[in-house]
Amino acid sequence: MQEIHTPVLTEELKVLLNLKPGDNAVDATLNGGGHARMMLELIKPGGKVLGIDQDKSMIERMEGDKNITAIWGNFKDIDEIIKKLGFNKIKAVLFDLGMSRWHLEQSGRGFSFQKPEEALFMNLNKKSANTAAEILNGYPEDRLAEIFKNFGQEPKARLFAKKIMEFRKKQPAYRQGRRIISVKDLLNALGAQKPDGREKILARIFQALRIAVNNELEALTEALPKSFDALDAGGRLAIISYHSLEDRIVKNFFSAVVGKKAIILTKKPKTASQEEIIKNPSSRSAKLRVLEKI
Ligand SMILES: C[S@@+](CC[C@H](N)C(=O)[O-])C[C@H]1O[C@@H](n2cnc3c(N)ncnc32)[C@H](O)[C@@H]1O
Repeated sequence: MQEIHTPVLTEELKVLLNLKPGDNAVDATLNGGGHARMMLELIKPGGKVLGIDQDKSMIERMEGDKNITAIWGNFKDIDEIIKKLGFNKIKAVLFDLGMSRWHLEQSGRGFSFQKPEEALFMNLNKKSANTAAEILNGYPEDRLAEIFKNFGQEPKARLFAKKIMEFRKKQPAYRQGRRIISVKDLLNALGAQKPDGREKILARIFQALRIAVNNELEALTEALPKSFDALDAGGRLAIISYHSLEDRIVKNFFSAVVGKKAIILTKKPKTASQEEIIKNPSSRSAKLRVLEKI
């Protein structure tokens, strides 16, 4: 199968997940199955991997891999998914929260500011009605500014929200509600027709929109306690996050269970080695935190 994403921190996970032959494990962010296959190697013979992804195209790609049960769903419903399948004896649950290479480079859904021709969907679940274009065209200035500030940590959130409102008003198709449709439109609205030198700002704005479209922070907040409950005693919960908003949610959850219910195995988060960063630059911001359920 063609690789659509390079899994990060695999060597660290092999040690920290502590999986043994016969164990069962859940990959809550299956994507191309890189981590799922790595886990399968550790638990065979006898062990099974349940993989979840909210993007149906990821699930369709996995069909035929009989050792991995791939389920189309949101990890915030992990409890129901596990129950429905009767999946038990779970010794590890892994979340890898970043963007996959396939989503950025091939999905055609406007996740990257380097793809001006793409439409601004940014939805990981294509069935979801939410899109970045709807937010950009429909939300009032205050809400846009909040999104850029809260989900992108953009210091000039208000200024960019204002720019979007101004651009919206100037468009001839204003009344038809077709104003900011493509990545190029958004770049124009932000005054960044040429992204050069503005990459950091654009990364923050695109991150903010993606988080808002997919309700990413709520889903993670909901999923962590459910995943913890699903683990057997001695089981491990591992989360790879890529920005401080996700990492804060993970740290808060860890603080809530540490002591009576769990031991934290990563006092400081594990990060990629220089060697891995050179081979796979997108591992640069990955932070892995792991706990063990008592
Ligand atoms: C960085 S990729 C995971 C890569 C994977 N670990 C590998 O090694 O191939 C993240 C995946 O998580 C999925 N995802 C993000 N949020 C999700 C959610 N709330 N529920 C289920 N899947 C989600 C995305 O669709 C994407 O395919």
